[in-house]
Amino acid sequence: MASSFRRLLAGFLLIGAPSIATALRPRILADTNRDGIVSQLDDADKHDWTSSRGAIFLPNVGDALHRCAAADLTGTPLSNDELWRCHDASGDRLLPSSAPYTAPLLALPMPNLSDSAVGRIYTDPPHARDRVRLFWNEADWTTGYANVWATVDPQLTFNATSLRNGITLAIDGRELMTDAAVWDGTVRVVFEVTNGNYTARDFVALKQAPVLLHHHLQRAEVVLSSAAGDNQTIGSAWQAQFVRGVEQAVAGDVPIVLFNQSTDIWAQDFLEPGYASMPSPDGPISIRILLRSAQSTRDAGRQVFSQLRSAGIGVFQPGLGSGFGWEEINSGGNIETIPPYTSRSGKRWPNGRVIMGTHFGTYPAESMVKFLQSQQAQTPLFLETGWLAVGHVDEVVQFLPANTSLGFTIAVADTTSAIALLRNANASGHGTTPLVSYTGDATPDGLTIFLDPSLLHNTTISSLLSDPDFHATQAYAQRYIDQNLALLLREVPLKEEDILRVPTLFKDVTYPWPITLDGHPRRLGLPYPGERQLKSLLPQAINGLVLGNGKYLAPKQWGPVVEGRDIFADAVENVYARAGVRVQWVDDYMSHHVRGGEVHCGTNALREMGVWWE
Ligand SMILES: *[C@@H]1O[C@H](CO)[C@@H](O)[C@H](O)[C@H]1NC(C)=O
Ligand SMILES: *[C@@H]1O[C@H](CO)[C@@H](O)[C@H](O)[C@H]1NC(C)=O
Ligand SMILES: *[C@@H]1O[C@H](CO)[C@@H](O)[C@H](O)[C@H]1NC(C)=O
Ligand SMILES: *[C@@H]1O[C@H](CO)[C@@H](O)[C@H](O)[C@H]1NC(C)=O
Ligand SMILES: *[C@@H]1O[C@H](CO)[C@@H](O)[C@H](O)[C@H]1NC(C)=O
Ligand SMILES: *[C@@H]1O[C@H](CO)[C@@H](O)[C@H](O)[C@H]1NC(C)=O
Ligand SMILES: *[C@@H]1O[C@H](CO)[C@@H](O)[C@H](O)[C@H]1NC(C)=O
Ligand SMILES: *[C@@H]1O[C@H](CO)[C@@H](O)[C@H](O)[C@H]1NC(C)=O
Repeated sequence: MASSFRRLLAGFLLIGAPSIATALRPRILADTNRDGIVSQLDDADKHDWTSSRGAIFLPNVGDALHRCAAADLTGTPLSNDELWRCHDASGDRLLPSSAPYTAPLLALPMPNLSDSAVGRIYTDPPHARDRVRLFWNEADWTTGYANVWATVDPQLTFNATSLRNGITLAIDGRELMTDAAVWDGTVRVVFEVTNGNYTARDFVALKQAPVLLHHHLQRAEVVLSSAAGDNQTIGSAWQAQFVRGVEQAVAGDVPIVLFNQSTDIWAQDFLEPGYASMPSPDGPISIRILLRSAQSTRDAGRQVFSQLRSAGIGVFQPGLGSGFGWEEINSGGNIETIPPYTSRSGKRWPNGRVIMGTHFGTYPAESMVKFLQSQQAQTPLFLETGWLAVGHVDEVVQFLPANTSLGFTIAVADTTSAIALLRNANASGHGTTPLVSYTGDATPDGLTIFLDPSLLHNTTISSLLSDPDFHATQAYAQRYIDQNLALLLREVPLKEEDILRVPTLFKDVTYPWPITLDGHPRRLGLPYPGERQLKSLLPQAINGLVLGNGKYLAPKQWGPVVEGRDIFADAVENVYARAGVRVQWVDDYMSHHVRGGEVHCGTNALREMGVWWE
């Protein structure tokens, strides 16, 4: 890259005698100062792209006209790779409906050229060439004809008429940055003019907007969940009840969209929503980029293409380095985002930072980790979640808006306060109270893996408190929670007293499991030597959906009822109230809790998008 940069400079300085070279001065501009308009103000410092200055364009990978099919004409499903290769920028035409997602450039008019003058416009370095598209507006702007966007390929030359009028251009990206070592999104657009015996060039540096993952300071605009499937689907009645609960809790604040082409109820896990934005005169223009999980055999992820991809919504399909299968470590529930902060060591993370869980040295799929790293904006920080059976970061921590110095705080699962609740109840004479107050239908089906009749019928506050295994399990969990929180607090400058500790009890569910469904490779790893695999004993309050406007959808606790009050529900509400957050309870006991997840796992959210640049 450095050498081609020097070549360009050489073009500037050395071609032609100085007196004539000053007369022949092609100029190309993009929105370098990020005010949304291409103007003379963009001429300065346009050759280098920095975090604070430099033009931005979008990956135009939506499907504005729903042209892209999910199956071929014989009905055979397209491969994952084929699904992802079709999008608005996969062809050479600029569809009118995807034109709003292109960024403008301008080759300034050169009124004094001779009739024989010719110009070329091309992108550089060569490896960026196939990754972006460049168009020019063929219409003579003085005539008011409708815009006609034509591809600018390296062979195209512009005649003197076009060069004298000036050339209006548009650029978009046709590929995401999947590996910054191959392409980091930067491109230079070069404008070269030959007049008589002299050739001169100018260029402008641009960079494709990174795909950013949402954080919880961005309000939800659409809530996603899954339709129940038909009534033949295992658990469909429970899922239908869950969706009704979510609808009641959301209460019309935002629309709810249900995936309806799969029986997979874990809408958090087969995708992770993100977005990319660029400036425009009317504020940022954004395109949603939904990251399908790196779980190649998880068919539900195909719905991200077949159901959600549309105008302004594109998809990232993890490719090489995804492995094969459906390991839970690669679920969206294992990808969360710390909101914007400046680290204790002074590094600014203006768009926050992604967190992911490792499982005792095993990392999530390379394709996803590398993708997130290649955006060069929210580089993942790794927590340890191998001590959980499912093993997702959303089972351990949560970020939510709060009145702290950073505008947010961290909530963590906490066994200490949960045990204290039980001890207090026991001490006030309620030791015989059942731990679980759920009394509804508990008929097992094929997927109620964690349904535990003895927990429902035979576990009381005092039986639990006098069980040494119970205490050992809580201590084991707390050790890893403390370790993860300490890691976060070394990075994020929040105070201990800012942290919300959400009462949570764990259960040891270490292998064996109903491991493989439909002969697929297993989803859950074997326990690591000397380690356990835990899941929440009661519905896990921290594992819910932060909606925005102080509203939080949490799994109904079904905790011990003492003097008519669920002591866990009261405690959880009090903890969240410290951050000004109102808890809306959604019953997920049979729909999700006994199947290995909670409200968060069963939902997702498309959130506000916007300005990310400085
Ligand atoms: C074009 O030529 C005219 C007269 O020859 C001169 O005044 C003007 O500055 C020139 N414009 C440019 C852009 O070189
Ligand atoms: C110059 O190019 C434009 C656009 O392609 C074309 O319409 C025009 O006829 C050309 N003019 C000459 C003199 O060739
Ligand atoms: C351009 O080059 C030709 C042939 O090399 C030469 O005859 C002519 O004088 C040159 N014109 C100018 C303006 O330098
Ligand atoms: C499933 O739904 C169909 C159509 O609504 C109905 O005819 C059928 O009886 C239902 N089956 C069960 C087991 O409820
Ligand atoms: C599936 O959901 C989409 C909305 O995303 C809706 O348009 C469509 O009608 C639904 N299909 C069925 C079979 O319910
Ligand atoms: C936020 O905290 C500051 C300082 O503690 C306080 O002055 C302010 O009133 C608080 N704002 C809200 C909305 O609670
Ligand atoms: C509950 O405990 C009783 C007595 O120990 C036992 O007979 C019964 O099987 C237990 N029930 C369950 C569901 O574990
Ligand atoms: C529970 O309370 C009873 C008396 O109320 C007490 O004897 C017992 O030690 C307590 N159990 C635990 C585990 O704290």
